[in-house]
Amino acid sequence: MKLVMLGPPGAGKGTQARRLQDSRNLVQLSTGDMLRKAVAEATEYGIKAAAAMKAGELVSDEIVIATISERLDQPDLANGFILDGFPRNLEQAEALDAMLEAKGLVLDAVIDIAVVDDVLVDRVSGRYTCAKCGKGYHDTMEKPATDGVCDKCGSTEFKRRADDNAETVRNRLEVYHAETAPLQDYYRSKGKLKSVDGMADIDDVTRQIEEELDAA
Ligand code: AP5
Repeated sequence: MKLVMLGPPGAGKGTQARRLQDSRNLVQLSTGDMLRKAVAEATEYGIKAAAAMKAGELVSDEIVIATISERLDQPDLANGFILDGFPRNLEQAEALDAMLEAKGLVLDAVIDIAVVDDVLVDRVSGRYTCAKCGKGYHDTMEKPATDGVCDKCGSTEFKRRADDNAETVRNRLEVYHAETAPLQDYYRSKGKLKSVDGMADIDDVTRQIEEELDAA
């Protein structure tokens, strides 16, 4: 199965992509994670992408499309993948169409997670992850059972993303509405768009997505 997760920052794309990865044996392809790794390793792309990411702007199409194109050629994707954070504008959507066609692949569905802006700033600026195993937490919505200790691996080290402060999140939301939201119409016109209510709790959103995919 080949899927795209669409939605504003904090909608739950990563959360739901990780669940689908486990339930449907798919590979999550997060352009945000790939770019953060490139920045941390100071690769050529990482050095070019860093300033845009810090400001909450989109990284250039050239870098992101090249990154995804290389990744789609790797053999671990034989059972399918979930694109999380790509495409993010019309140019990227058209580039994806061309890449898939060239590889003889067809997109099965685009899952659009709808959440109102007001809750997104709180969701994103409150989140953090375990520095060792990557388990996600939130200051108020999902705390570890013992304060300061990861439930999954016992580590006491946690980290926050550099772009998860309230000001940058607001800019990321503006960019989403201007550049990414028009992709809803793009995929609706192709009969691929499946919208789910991202205001529901995490398990309920998963249930809605699984139902949409079973019916697709
Ligand atoms: P990226 O890493 O893709 O960030 P994003 O799209 O802003 O999305 P997030 O990861 O912040 O949110 P999410 O929807 O995955 O939510 P999550 O599941 O974590 O991109 C970062 C930057 O990289 C961009 O700004 C850009 O600079 C660059 N970039 C990336 N891709 C690019 C591209 N294609 N082109 C150009 N530039 C690109 O959930 C958030 C929080 O909410 C968590 O705490 C979670 O536990 C909680 N939560 C989730 N669902 C629910 C729920 N239903 N109810 C309550 N809480 C929930």
